[in-house]
This record gives sequence, structure tokens and C-alpha cells, in this order.
Amino acid sequence: MNFIKVNTYEELSARAAAIICGQVAIKPSCVLGLATGSSPLGTYAKMAEKNRAGEVDFSQVKSVNLDEYVGLDGGHDQSYRYFMNNNLFKNINIDIKNTYVPNGCADDIEAECKAYDELIKSLGGIDLQLLGIGYDGHIGFNEPDSYFEKATHRVTLDPSTIEANSRFFASSEDVPKTAITMGMGGIMSAKRVLLIANGKGKREIVEKAFFGPITPNVPASILQLHPDLTVIYSEN
Ligand code: F6R
Repeated sequence: MNFIKVNTYEELSARAAAIICGQVAIKPSCVLGLATGSSPLGTYAKMAEKNRAGEVDFSQVKSVNLDEYVGLDGGHDQSYRYFMNNNLFKNINIDIKNTYVPNGCADDIEAECKAYDELIKSLGGIDLQLLGIGYDGHIGFNEPDSYFEKATHRVTLDPSTIEANSRFFASSEDVPKTAITMGMGGIMSAKRVLLIANGKGKREIVEKAFFGPITPNVPASILQLHPDLTVIYSEN
């Protein structure tokens, strides 16, 4: 594991964007695994900056996102498709047809999960997966559990995750109770993994996940077994 501690969120974002853009430079048609949440916002802004400056070309890149709420379509301003369109895709020269987010409004959610894993396979797998980490150690929506779930699946969200995400909805009642998430198999199969975390509040879970025992009770801890893991942490 490559653990990088930096002093500011700005530095974290610049480092993460440099790694992602480096991946695109090495392999212009690479598959990027992407995340939503507050952590990658700075990274996405820097990626767009580099794209505008002509330093990186996303025209051949494909992307697969980690997760989506069940019941929210791409037009809903709290859906992860909406988030990605607005915070990254519309700001870079990626072909929107090459961007994939699980369909939270599919008639058959189980079939959608299977199809998503097939899609990732058909793209040749993920070259670099970007992750944030939840306060309970979740990655994607893989919540603490007694085992690691491998495939893309539907999850019931942990009350603490619903609470944390309720800041974006009118009330916690409005937060969807289930979501589709890539499983640990999909994440661990990525050739490279980049996890970013910032803020004093994340310090305890970062210590547990990367310097504590590997347990499904702290889902991110499995990443210690990944052969190419970079973690960037900023306390501020
Ligand atoms: C989002 C996702 C989540 C977040 C995590 C951290 O696609 O997969 O696991 O990465 O909840 O969220 P933030 O960055 O808002 O602290």
C-alpha cells in the first residue's frame, strides 16, 4: 500500500487528479471506476481544469460508477447519475455514451446488478478505481457486515449512512432505503485502486481500515490485500 498523507484538501485533490490523468495518459482508452460523494469533488474539478488546459484527453475513456440509489432516475438531483453528469462529465470531453452508472430505476434490480458485472467484464475490467470511504468503513455502498459480498448487488442502507446522506434531501425520510452497489469482487478486480479521505472525522476509520485487522465489519479493510492500492489522506 502506498499511503500518502497531505496537509490540505487542495493537495489531496491535485494528487488524486494527477494519478487519474496519468492513468489516462498511459492508456487513453482506459476504464475509470468513479465515485460520488463530497471527497472526489476537488479531484473532479482538477481533472476538468487539466482537460481544459489540454493536458489530458478523455475522449476515449470509459467510466463505470460504483453505485446508485434504487428509485431515483438520472433526472433526480440526488441521483448519482445526475451528480456525475454535473460534477464531472459535462466538464470534460468524455463521450457521455461511454459513461455507466447502475440504473436505479430498472424494473428488475437483480437483473440490472448481473448486467452491470457483465458490462464491466465486457469493457475489459476497471483500470483504476477511485473510492471514498464512509465513516463506518463502507466503500461504494458495501456496509459493515459479517462477510464480503462479491458481486454487484442491492443493499439496504445502514441507518448511519441514511443519516449522513440526509443532508442532501429534504429529510431522512426522503433518502432511498436501498441502493445498487458494485461488490467487493468488482472493486478488488480493478487493476489499481485509489482511495481518498479527508477531514479529522475520517482519521479514526482510515486508521482502522488500513492499519487494523481485515474484517467485513470494516469493508474498506479488504483493500489492504489489493496489490496496487494508493490511499491519500488529508486531515483538513
Ligand atoms: C459514493 C460512495 C460512497 C462514498 C462515501 C464517502 O459513490 O461510493 O462510498 O465514497 O460515502 O462519502 P463522502 O466522500 O461524501 O464522505
